[in-house]
Amino acid sequence: MLRVRNLHAYYGHIHAVKGVSLHVNPGEIVALIGGNGAGKSTILRAISGVVPAASGEIVLGEDVITHLSPERILKRGIGHVPEGRRLFRGLSVRDNLALGAYSRTDRAGVKQDLAAMEELFPILGRRRRQISGTLSGGEQQMLAIARALMGRPAVLLLDEPSMGLAPIMVNQIYEKIADLNRSEGLSILLVEQNARMALGLAQRGYVVETGRMVMEGPTSELRQSKEIQRAYLGKGYREVWE
Ligand SMILES: Nc1ncnc2c1ncn2[C@@H]1O[C@H](COP(=O)(O)OP(=O)(O)OP(=O)(O)O)[C@@H](O)[C@H]1O
Ligand SMILES: [Mg+2]
Repeated sequence: MLRVRNLHAYYGHIHAVKGVSLHVNPGEIVALIGGNGAGKSTILRAISGVVPAASGEIVLGEDVITHLSPERILKRGIGHVPEGRRLFRGLSVRDNLALGAYSRTDRAGVKQDLAAMEELFPILGRRRRQISGTLSGGEQQMLAIARALMGRPAVLLLDEPSMGLAPIMVNQIYEKIADLNRSEGLSILLVEQNARMALGLAQRGYVVETGRMVMEGPTSELRQSKEIQRAYLGKGYREVWE
């Protein structure tokens, strides 16, 4: 579905992504974990075209999308929920959702999808006219996800959906992500510092450190890895999984 080969990306002289390869199969949830500054967000930004790929290749389905504009990449079917959500905070919930569909021309379909999003996230229906900057953190995250879904993505890139949320909210968000994957077969690339949640949900995972992939495999194996337990899961992980 989505394949990244030997990707390099820079910010000026900073070499943030140093030859990363990964893939997401149709209908799969793939976790990308790693510490602060490892390059996780940059990988997602390069896939969605907001940071240029200096070299390497990004393929969606049969199409090479490496050097397309972010708008074209969105149209081809990559939805990106960026780190920090990046809502239009002064606009209403409804307007944020509608802007998620700005590149679409099928008005009837957009209308249907607005209704579908309000069904999927009932709070967004109830808060339709609320200014989105005044939503709670969890509600803003739901809105950010719903806005990306309004672009009808084939692959959804999710950057730290759990960031800054209370555990109960994190669980709700993760349930929605699982639902979307199960019911729509949506393919998802999930970036998280919350390795416990991400490795609990995803089928496969990658670990990135200072711009390079250092480990990959089925999450059942990654969870057993001593290095991952030590570096990313901390004590007490057994209480959760075993
Ligand atoms: N806009 C930017 N300008 C310059 N350097 C940047 C910029 N964004 C990120 N970087 C640098 O690129 C590297 C990778 O950053 P990135 O945001 O991809 O990491 P991350 O894995 O997402 O980290 P975090 O978990 O903290 O979000 C870091 O060294 C960071 O300082
Ligand atoms: Mg990040």
